Amino acid sequence: MEAIAKAHTNIALIKYWGKRDEALFLPMNSSLSITLDKFYTTTAVQFCSCLKEDVFLLNGQLASEDETLKISHFLDKIRDIAGQKLYAVVNSVNKVPTAAGFASSASGYAALAAAATKAIGLEIDNKTLSQIARQGSGSACRSIFGGYVEWQKGEKTDGTDSFAKPVGNEQEWNLSILSVLVASKQKKVLSREGMKRTVETSPFYAGWLETVEKDLSLARSAINEHDFEKLGDVVEANALKMHATTLGANPPFMYWQSATIDVIEHVQELRSKGIKAYFTIDAGPNVKVICQQKDEQVVRDLLLNVDSVEDVYLCHPGPGVTYLPASTTENGSKLLFNRFHQANCARTISRNL
Ligand code: ADP
Ligand code: DP6
Repeated sequence: MEAIAKAHTNIALIKYWGKRDEALFLPMNSSLSITLDKFYTTTAVQFCSCLKEDVFLLNGQLASEDETLKISHFLDKIRDIAGQKLYAVVNSVNKVPTAAGFASSASGYAALAAAATKAIGLEIDNKTLSQIARQGSGSACRSIFGGYVEWQKGEKTDGTDSFAKPVGNEQEWNLSILSVLVASKQKKVLSREGMKRTVETSPFYAGWLETVEKDLSLARSAINEHDFEKLGDVVEANALKMHATTLGANPPFMYWQSATIDVIEHVQELRSKGIKAYFTIDAGPNVKVICQQKDEQVVRDLLLNVDSVEDVYLCHPGPGVTYLPASTTENGSKLLFNRFHQANCARTISRNL
């Protein structure tokens, strides 16, 4: 019972910020993203009756107890649906910085949902897979699909109408997204904690909710019309509003660093010179700059020259979830599983293996 899946990260053009139900990961607002070709997670899941507990390896290391607990909790939902009680070895490799605002949780839970449901023998469509991935990390529901993706918040309390769906094919409008790395250290306030604190304490959150549907409908129509300026304007405004809500939280917090503002200023300067580029920022200090393909090299070169910028990764809209053959060695799945399998058949797994 093994499967390997690959899922790409996504960058939110209109942000998901705030939950109406924390257990089911139901959002306060709908959101819209682009799945990126460059950054992804590959996750192998193997269920086996020999295991006495779930084992989670992230980037080749045995994960902490807290992280493993999060994975087990998520796998429980899949075990419930499948009516199975088996534990699993989860071996995941992020080809994206982890917890740095590059959306590792989105690609991570999309890949895990896909690999685990397949490994346990569930036959489900991508809409259902998106609902399952959502319950690991909200933004993961969008990474099931490629290109431009909308996550409709839904109204129902059981979450059955809260899932993502594609709203534009990646080949139809091949924009460029430059992921600007200013800091790869893990952030202090994870998105989950940040949005919860904001919903509960920020007086600016009401303003966010009042305007986000309008932003979404502008972004949707800009994508339909391939109107880049219209999209850029609303993307920037929406990101600034999201970050403004964190300043009003109690205690207040800020994802930006001085380098973040440096990049913002350079993007504004580019625009004053007639080059259309727009920024957006998720829950972290790093910035994503969107532009048209004809401008991608000039924008990249300029950003690489900013002192505080460590690197600039050129991305384009990417694909949705794919499955890899079980023999794939990219994350050494077979080898690792055999190690845990042997250890477990002999004795209960020890965290010091
Ligand atoms: P990011 O900007 O990287 O998404 P978040 O704070 O939203 O940061 O999420 C980071 C969290 O996502 C990690 O602490 C971990 O719990 C989870 N995560 C990251 N990568 C994976 C993975 N490959 N598989 C499962 N969970 C992951
Ligand atoms: C700012 O999806 O990581 O990137 O559902 O609690 O796991 P949880 O949060 P997560 O939050 C993403 C927040 C964001 C905006 C977005 O991706 O839409």
